[in-house]
This record gives sequence, C-alpha cells and structure tokens, in this order.
Amino acid sequence: MSKKSKNSLINASKNEVWKHDLDSSNFETNDINELTSLLLDSYKTYNGRQFLNDDDLNCLLPSDKIVLERSTLSYLLMRHRWKGNFCSPVKEKLNTSGTTILDIGCGSGLWAIDMGLNHPSSSIIAIDIDPSKFPSKDQCPPNVCFLTCNAIYGIPFPQNTFDFVNISMMWSAFTEAQWILIIKDLVRVLKHNGWIEFTEPDPTLRNGVKNLAWLIECLSNACRDITGVNIHIYEEIPKYIRAMDELEDFNCMHIDYPMGEWYGYFGKYALENLKRTLQSVVFLPKYMKMSNEEFNNLLDDYFKEANEFKISFTVYKYFAKKVSKNVPII
Ligand SMILES: C[S@@+](CC[C@H](N)C(=O)[O-])C[C@H]1O[C@@H](n2cnc3c(N)ncnc32)[C@H](O)[C@@H]1O
Repeated sequence: MSKKSKNSLINASKNEVWKHDLDSSNFETNDINELTSLLLDSYKTYNGRQFLNDDDLNCLLPSDKIVLERSTLSYLLMRHRWKGNFCSPVKEKLNTSGTTILDIGCGSGLWAIDMGLNHPSSSIIAIDIDPSKFPSKDQCPPNVCFLTCNAIYGIPFPQNTFDFVNISMMWSAFTEAQWILIIKDLVRVLKHNGWIEFTEPDPTLRNGVKNLAWLIECLSNACRDITGVNIHIYEEIPKYIRAMDELEDFNCMHIDYPMGEWYGYFGKYALENLKRTLQSVVFLPKYMKMSNEEFNNLLDDYFKEANEFKISFTVYKYFAKKVSKNVPII
C-alpha cells in the first residue's frame, strides 16, 4: 500500500469512523488487506508490551492479550458485585422494540454482548479505539455491533440517537478536559428521557496497607505527570454531570470491592487484577527510578503483604436523565 493511501486511511480513522463489523460483507479482499496492514502499523511495542500507535492517545494501558484477559476478568467481577449490568431505571425501556444503547470504551465487548442477549429488542453499539479486543462475529448476537472509534474525536452519531449510554472503567483513558468534552458529546447523542451511566473506582485503598497504598499514590502521580490523566476521576464526574443543564435526576450508588483471599475467590481474582493493572503501566518503574526487575520484586512483596489484610476499593455508579429543553417533535 502506498504511503499516501496509508496516511489517508490513518487520517480517515481519526476523523471519521470505519466500521468493524457492520459492513464487513461488503469488503473486497484488498480492502481487508489494507485494513489489516493499517492495523499492523497501528501498534508499537514498549517494554515488551503492545500499545496503540497514536500519539494523541493518553490511554495508559497496553493493547494486548494480557490487558484483554484483565479487562474480561474485571467485567465479570464488576457484574457479580453490582448484581447486574446497570443501575439506571431503564429495564422496561430496554425490552421495548427500537431501543438503542451505546457503550463507550467497550474493551472485550462482554457488557454489550450480555446486554444484547438479555434485551433482544434493543440494538447495542459498542465503540472502542482498539478493535483487536472486539469479539468475533460468531460470539455476537445480531443486535450488537462494534465500531472502531476514538471517543476523543467525537461520538460519530447524530443528536438524540440513544436511549441509554454506558461508560465504565475509563479512568485511564481521558484527561479532565477530554472528560468534559466527551460527556457533552454523550449528552448530545442521548435522546430526551434517555439515561447515561458512569462506573468508576475510587483508587484509595480502604483498611490501608501502607506499602500498596503508597504504590497506588505513585501510580496516580505518574499518570498525572506523564499523561495528564486524573485516576481519581470518580470525584469529578458528579460535578461534570451537575454542570450539564440537560441532565436531571442525578443518582449516585457505591459498592465495596473487596480484594485478597479474605474474600474468597472473588477477592483473590480482584487483587490479582489490581496487580496486573499495575504491571501494565509500563512507565511506572522508570517514574519510580527502578529497574523492571526491582519493580516486579516490589510488586510481589507488596501484594503478598496486602493479601494478609482485608483491603477494598469503593466503586461508584452515577446516572442521570436527559431532559431536553427543545424536545424533538418526532
Ligand atoms: C479499562 S478498559 C474498560 C473496558 C470496559 N468498559 C469495562 O468496563 O470493563 C478501557 C477501554 O477504553 C478504550 N479506550 C481508551 N481510550 C479510548 C478512546 N479515546 N476512545 C475509545 N476507546 C478508548 C481502551 O481501548 C479500553 O478497551
């Protein structure tokens, strides 16, 4: 593929959106080869981990199998803990024909698939910047589709399109300024009387073990200094929601997220998941002026110690309803 056509594809993928699955039946082999080549060029390797090759992106976490596994486990633990996939009062609406749902930063896509299976009358669109995590077509119910899209460049749908918008565990993805723009855009695509729901953790350890708490503080400082990301974004989101004129009926719920073997297998896997997250932030050892080996030994020691305490995080859900000042007539 010529450099020019490759560049035009890269630019197209930044500004517009190309569909992952929707129109795949229309693709010729050449198109697929071009897209594959674009995908291959879309990744870079750093410290042995694969990252999306996009300088505009502040996503801290790699795009590889290890992260996919971690994100799958995280989804299952979260669904179990919240006893379901959402808290907004949309249950009835989701079983009405023609209901539309949007999931931002869908990761492994399991939330979208579950929602599609549980609510066959709804249509679900799940977007993520990294298509390598999308499930294969045979894992996907017919009412679910996946789009490759960088949410920072805008949500590529007309206003008043969705009845329900979900955005979950995106603490590592956006700066505060980007959060504000993205929330505005999500409210734009939400229909009158539609609901938007956020799920984000408070990364402060409860029943603190000093060493692990300190490590998480280093993570927070590193994210702020290197990528401008505030990992305590759960504190800001309520302010952003309240600042939006069109959002009403603000709700906040929270749960404990226990970690460590004191809480059985759930706790064991939840702690393991936190360890994998810290291992995935590949710039952290350098920021802490350590070699990778020193950092990994420190992680092993700190997590072994943490497992002896009853530690937990708190995870928050915020949800609110759009009430348009200018209600569309149709
Ligand atoms: C930690 S995962 C969350 C996955 C899922 N929402 C969940 O709750 O388990 C963050 C996801 O956001 C995606 N992401 C990061 N930056 C993004 C952006 N600018 N636009 C769209 N997706 C993005 C990543 O590729 C990743 O799949």
